[in-house]
Amino acid sequence: MGQTVLLTGGAGYIGSHTFVALRAAGHDAVVLDNFSNARADVPDRLEVITGAPVRVYRGDVRDGALLARIFAENAIGAVIHFAALKAAGESVEKPLDYMDVNLGGLTALLKAMREAGCFRLVFSSSATVYGTPEVLPVPETAPRGYANPYGFTKLACEQILEQVGASDPRWAIATLRYFNPVGAHSSALIGEDPQDFPNNLVPFVAEVALGKRAALNVFGDDWATRDGTGVRDYIHVEDLARGHVMSLGHLVETGQSHTVNLGTGRGYSVLEMLAAYGRAVGRDLPHVIAPRRPGDVAEVVADPSKAAALLGFRAERGVDEMCASSWAFVSRRRNG
Ligand code: NAD
Ligand code: UFG
Repeated sequence: MGQTVLLTGGAGYIGSHTFVALRAAGHDAVVLDNFSNARADVPDRLEVITGAPVRVYRGDVRDGALLARIFAENAIGAVIHFAALKAAGESVEKPLDYMDVNLGGLTALLKAMREAGCFRLVFSSSATVYGTPEVLPVPETAPRGYANPYGFTKLACEQILEQVGASDPRWAIATLRYFNPVGAHSSALIGEDPQDFPNNLVPFVAEVALGKRAALNVFGDDWATRDGTGVRDYIHVEDLARGHVMSLGHLVETGQSHTVNLGTGRGYSVLEMLAAYGRAVGRDLPHVIAPRRPGDVAEVVADPSKAAALLGFRAERGVDEMCASSWAFVSRRRNG
C-alpha cells in the first residue's frame, strides 16, 4: 500500500531523485529542507517531472516544533532522512557544525517520530564508515572506522540507530551505505548542483567540460590500482533512488531493520571516469596529475550481494549512462 513518506533533505541531490522514484512507485512524499544546499526551484521541477503538487516545509530538521507540526498535518508512514552536511574536507574545519546538524538532526527526528508513533526510518549512511577497507569488494560485515568528522558523524548515527532500534521493537530502521552517487534524472531537470565549490570527482569533471576549469586535478597516479589513480564504485543516482524504494518496501512488508551497501560492485579509476565523461561530451577532457589528497584511499568497491539477496536490488545503469545524464543536466542548467 502506498505510504506518505517524509523526506528530510528532499530537495537535495539524492532526496529529489528519491522523491521521483517514490511517486513512480505509488507512494507520496512530503519534503522538509532548509535549502542550505539546494536550489529554490527544485520543488517546481519535481512538480513538472511527477505531474502533481509537491508539499514542502522550509525549515531545519533540528526544529522539534516544526517536526511535530509536519507529523500532525500529514499521515506520515515512514521517514527517509537525507538532511545532513556532507563535505568531508569542510568537516575537518567545522567539526561542531557537522556534529550539530548530523547528530542533532537525527536525534531531533527520532524524538519527533517516537512522539508521532512513526517507527519506520531509512537513513543515508555512506561507504565512508568503512574507512580504509581491508577486504574488497567490501561487505557490510567489514570493520567500521572514520577518517574525518563527517565520517565520524555517519558512524555515530549508525550506532545511535542501533541503540534506539534495540530499545523498542516497534522500530524498523534501514541503514543504506551509499557508494559514489553520480548522474542525473533522465529529464535533465534535476541533478547534482553544488551550491559552491564542488567536493567530488564528477562535479569537478563537469566544470572542466563546461570550460569553467582548465583541467581536472587527478589526485595521485601512484596508487596501487590498475592505472595508478583512485578506484571507486560509482552508482547512478536513479538506481540509488530505486534502492530506497525497495528498502522502504522491505521495512513495510517485514518490519525488519537492515543495513545494506548500495553500489554496483564494479570499480572505475579516475582516468576511466574522465574518459567516460569525455565520451558523453564528445571530446577528450584535459587533466593534470596533482599530489594525493589527504585522507584518500586507493580503492573502495561495494559487495552488492546482500542488497540483491535481501531487497532484490541490482544497479542497472553503467558509467556511460551516468556521465551522459550528468552532462545533459549541467549543459541544460548552463543554458538556463
Ligand atoms: P545534498 O546536500 O544535495 O542534500 C542534503 C539536503 O539536506 C540539501 O537539500 C540541504 O539543503 C538539506 N539540509 C542540510 N542541512 C539541513 C538541515 N539542518 N535541515 C534541513 N535540511 C537540511 O546531499 P546528497 O548528496 O543528496 O546527500 C544526502 C545524504 O546522503 C546525506 O546524508 C549525505 O551525507 C549522504 N551521502 C551522500 C553521498 C554523496 O556522495 N552524495 C555519499 C554517501 C552518503
Ligand atoms: N578525485 C580527483 N580529482 C578531483 C576529485 C576527486 O582525482 O578533483 C579522485 C579522488 O582522489 C578519488 C576519486 O576521484 O580517487 C573519487 O573522489 P570523490 O571525492 O568523488 O569521492 P570519495 O570516494 O573520495 O568520497 C565520497 C565522499 C565521501 C564519502 C565517500 C563514500 O566525498 O564523503 O564518497 O560515500 F564518504
